Amino acid sequence: MAEPWWKSAVFYQIYPRSFADSDGDGVGDLPGVTARLDHLAWLGVDAIWVCPFYRSPMTDFGYDVADYCDVDPLFGTLEDFDRLLAEAHQRGIRVIVDWVPNHTSDQHPWFMEARSSRDSPKRDWYIWVDGDPATKPNNWKAAFGGDAWSWDEATGQWYLHLFLPTQPDLNWRNPDVAAAMHETLRFWIDRGVDGFRIDVVQGLTKDPAFPDDPPGQILPHSAVNNCAGTHEVLRGLRRLAEGYSPVPLLLGEVYLLSTATVAGYVGDGDELHLAFDFTSLYAPWDAGAWRACIEEVESEFGARAAWPTWTLSNHDNPRHRTRYGGSERRARAAAVLLLTLRGAPFVYYGEELGLEDAAVPPERVVDPGGRDGCRSPLPWDGGPGHGWAGAEPWLPWSPEPETRNVAGLAAQETSILHLYRRLLAARRASPALSTGSWRALEAPAGVLAYERADGEDRRAVVVNFTAETVEVALEGRWAVEVDSDGLEAEGFPGRLAGDAAVILRPRVD
Ligand code: NOJ
Repeated sequence: MAEPWWKSAVFYQIYPRSFADSDGDGVGDLPGVTARLDHLAWLGVDAIWVCPFYRSPMTDFGYDVADYCDVDPLFGTLEDFDRLLAEAHQRGIRVIVDWVPNHTSDQHPWFMEARSSRDSPKRDWYIWVDGDPATKPNNWKAAFGGDAWSWDEATGQWYLHLFLPTQPDLNWRNPDVAAAMHETLRFWIDRGVDGFRIDVVQGLTKDPAFPDDPPGQILPHSAVNNCAGTHEVLRGLRRLAEGYSPVPLLLGEVYLLSTATVAGYVGDGDELHLAFDFTSLYAPWDAGAWRACIEEVESEFGARAAWPTWTLSNHDNPRHRTRYGGSERRARAAAVLLLTLRGAPFVYYGEELGLEDAAVPPERVVDPGGRDGCRSPLPWDGGPGHGWAGAEPWLPWSPEPETRNVAGLAAQETSILHLYRRLLAARRASPALSTGSWRALEAPAGVLAYERADGEDRRAVVVNFTAETVEVALEGRWAVEVDSDGLEAEGFPGRLAGDAAVILRPRVD
């Protein structure tokens, strides 16, 4: 059987508010994305994941959905989406949309109806608990602070929200909820999308006993995470997906800190196709930590014949350049790492420019989850407005937009932008790099070296996590294929500069 397309794909995450603005209101939109697809085609990405653009009051910037089957006017129209999809497909780029099944907006007609009365036929579509207004049902905290329960004055019950009070949790144990949500998936599959990034998979079902969280848990609302019922929900989604040809990709956000548990969300090949494992997102700039992370992923995902995922940055966490101390050299070396591991790499928009988080002054803070810094607008050129039509963007720019922008870096062969492009091209051209095996190679302290292989095709990758030049003695003769400094020095003499990385290919001369 042919391998699924997503096994050799490099994904690019678009946060639509911040990518490109076509109408000058300071907020990015779908026509903006369409107008910039050539950048992504030039870069060489295989698929885009577009964060939510549905109708929404935007209390969580779209993760509070009021209509799963329509586009918010802020982002455009359904026709704009169809155009985006068609134009992306024309360029060979697949489109993954974000699907938010754990909760709706409190403005969704389902919740408005559910909250209207205890006898509403939709009451049980959400999670309600009896009690008195002074005593919460348990100690669960919401992800962005405060309690996970809100008291509904009019009907005298508590409702559950793992996130904001404006994001009431759906009750996935009710088959009508599953059926209605399945219809929303069909809506987008019928429109032609290639798959879904599924939000908050780990919390989809809750322990009906609602036990207190044990003290000292790292993740909030740990008692709801990872319930057996969630695997049943996923099997239902997979059955639905398998009813289509081609089968849409099910890519789940599984926000759990154990790689073994996350890997379990592929089930026996009957749940998610891909599960986000965020240990790479939290790995420090340290060779030992990365090696341990990779080896655990290799072993846990390998045991299930599951394809791993790799992420350095996303819209919920500081950008990796910022996490790694602000150094562009490290950001470049990390890009070599991201794009040469075995599994699906996810590039977060702006990563290809080496963007740092924006400094957001208190008067411009808008996100209740404190994530504004990593959501800064993408600067397209060095002119005033940086390619954003009209109004000042909704968030401040990351540092140096005058020079650190798409047009500026595209004009410099040694820029980080060209590095990303070369890495994507190298990956695409080599079976070893795109789908081959991974094995660690001997390396001095502070250096990570590994080999990727597919039959005769072999590559070695060396990443120097230290600030000093190191000597690396690899068996065999190697030539540099891609070098994080963008210089592509001829042979590999065995010396590697501090905070640098190389892809090597066997030397034939
Ligand atoms: C995870 C999303 O990535 C995040 O942005 C959102 O706030 C929560 N889920 C709630 O939907």
